[in-house]
Amino acid sequence: DWTMASYRDEAIRKIREQVGDKRVICGLSGGVDSSVAAVLIHEAIGDQLTCVFVDHGLLRLNEADEVVTMFRDNYNIPLIHADESDLFLTALEGVSDPETKRKLIGKLFIDVFQREAAQIDGAEFLAQGTLYPDVIESVSFSGGPSVTIKSHHNVGGLPEKMGLKLVEPLRELFKDEVRALGRELGLPDSFIGRHPFPGPGLAIRCPGEITREKLEILRKADAVFIDQIRRHGLYDDIWQAFVAILPVRTVGVMGDGRTYDFACALRAVTSVDGMTADYYPFSHEFLGETATRIINEVRGINRVTYDITSKPPGTIEWE
Ligand code: XMP
Repeated sequence: DWTMASYRDEAIRKIREQVGDKRVICGLSGGVDSSVAAVLIHEAIGDQLTCVFVDHGLLRLNEADEVVTMFRDNYNIPLIHADESDLFLTALEGVSDPETKRKLIGKLFIDVFQREAAQIDGAEFLAQGTLYPDVIESVSFSGGPSVTIKSHHNVGGLPEKMGLKLVEPLRELFKDEVRALGRELGLPDSFIGRHPFPGPGLAIRCPGEITREKLEILRKADAVFIDQIRRHGLYDDIWQAFVAILPVRTVGVMGDGRTYDFACALRAVTSVDGMTADYYPFSHEFLGETATRIINEVRGINRVTYDITSKPPGTIEWE
């Protein structure tokens, strides 16, 4: 579409003008936003860009591998992969408050990022895939007074701390526009169409205390749910879908035995920009089949519920 083609050319021109011959560091999360930002900047300045992917151990099944393969192998973009699962998960032990989780993850993220960035000689700029809704939701909610609902760790703080200037080529765009720009840049549809994923990752889909056991169960259940959604051809109709593992064990029966395992909640919503959302009206057959598959295929879960809360009054994530 011509609008995005000219947006892209204009964005590339602005990036070149802003950056000159200096080096840029870009934090990659594996999400659409930072990926589109990285590819756009790479197109503008080539190897003056280095990407840093901080793996906090809170990603979905196989996600880290997919990100590394995509950028290093397919795009030839210089990429540092910092696998810091142990650091993050150890720090999160015993933490159950949602904002404490976010702040802790945000702080560690900055520490690791800074450490990795220090190895990149002469970097003067930091690129972020900040979108327009990130900018407004971090200061106000639905046009109301300045109430922070959730702190988003991709906004603010980092550049000042690191003495870097900010490059934010997506700052004026909504999600659907970022996707159009990604297509314009030739990113594969399967990648562009991916549901958004929050910076704190699975930490905020694990209400209460996070353990490695819960994360492992959550990853498997989430993969089954997404597989179900894809098999039924529903993935592109949904804004975001995921499983949250609940901090409660419930009693069940399996064969001749009693089970005492975790309950989980399925979450799927439609939305235009993430600011408001409606729960997705799955058929009862779909829900029943999905519950059966999760309980049969994922050890550690014996009860599946479907979250039918819209936003507002709920938020999309559970924390
Ligand atoms: P909520 O849960 O606030 O989510 O309705 C709205 C959108 O934002 C994502 N989200 C986050 N993204 N850091 C992020 O980068 C965060 O702390 C965070 N919290 C929520 C959420 O996945 C949804 O797309």
